[in-house]
Amino acid sequence: MSLEGKTVLVTGANRGIGKALADEALARGAARVYAGTRQPLTHTDPRVTPLTLDITDAAQIQAAAEQVESLDVLINNAGIMLPDIPFDPAVLERHMAVNFHGTNAVTQAFQAALIRSGGSIIYINSAAALSPLPPFASYSISKSALFSLARTARAFLAGQGVTVYTVLAGPIDTDMTRQLPIPKSSPEAAAQAIFDGVDKGEEDIFPDATMAPMADMWRNSPEKILERQFAELAQGAPPA
Ligand SMILES: NC(=O)c1ccc[n+]([C@@H]2O[C@H](COP(=O)([O-])OP(=O)(O)OC[C@H]3O[C@@H](n4cnc5c(N)ncnc54)[C@H](OP(=O)(O)O)[C@@H]3O)[C@@H](O)[C@H]2O)c1
Repeated sequence: MSLEGKTVLVTGANRGIGKALADEALARGAARVYAGTRQPLTHTDPRVTPLTLDITDAAQIQAAAEQVESLDVLINNAGIMLPDIPFDPAVLERHMAVNFHGTNAVTQAFQAALIRSGGSIIYINSAAALSPLPPFASYSISKSALFSLARTARAFLAGQGVTVYTVLAGPIDTDMTRQLPIPKSSPEAAAQAIFDGVDKGEEDIFPDATMAPMADMWRNSPEKILERQFAELAQGAPPA
């Protein structure tokens, strides 16, 4: 899938990976980039349309869906990661509200537009979806749930012409990981690798130095084999 002439929406587009994805989409010839942000945004490129979009705010999601006339690519990027005491219900609920329910609500709001365009959804997920990061237990649980949601969407939407990509990123140098003293890839390099992966038709994308070596192992893993087998059960079932 080339981004040339496409309409793209990025949630959390004001900083970090979301900003890098918006800039990279512009560099690859996107005709319009809707930049979803919680605070007002100005951008020098006339192809950028700011969109007020707190992904936990149902009214803002509905207003955004009404404003966007057509859409080719939805990039579910907005997310939070807070340290927590494992099993603290309040912190878990906060992560689920943003990373899972907010992302799901945005996807539902734009699903009809994506079916009309035969478009794509890119879920920006994390290595923590595959294995829990103990100091960030709630984050890991929410990202694991999001991974399940994305693969469910993949199974149900394939028959309606919508392609679903998941991004399983390792450490990227953004505000989210500022305090972690570990090697990180740049958000710009990650954004390039994400769109390169989409271009190559890789449904699960490992966009950084830490995760890239796992790509081939993942594609032949029992989880992936089961995902393909279970996806067949979505054939003929009611749409998501
Ligand atoms: N950095 C990493 O190492 C890494 C690795 C794997 C996956 N990821 C994932 O990549 C995505 C982006 O993370 P990042 O590293 O770029 O983090 P970041 O720099 O902290 O940026 C997070 C973005 O999400 C937005 N956001 C948070 N809550 C929101 C809400 N309720 N509604 C709308 N937007 C909201 C933030 O907006 P405000 O500016 O308004 O807060 C910000 O734009 C996340 O989903 C994260 O889990 C990151």
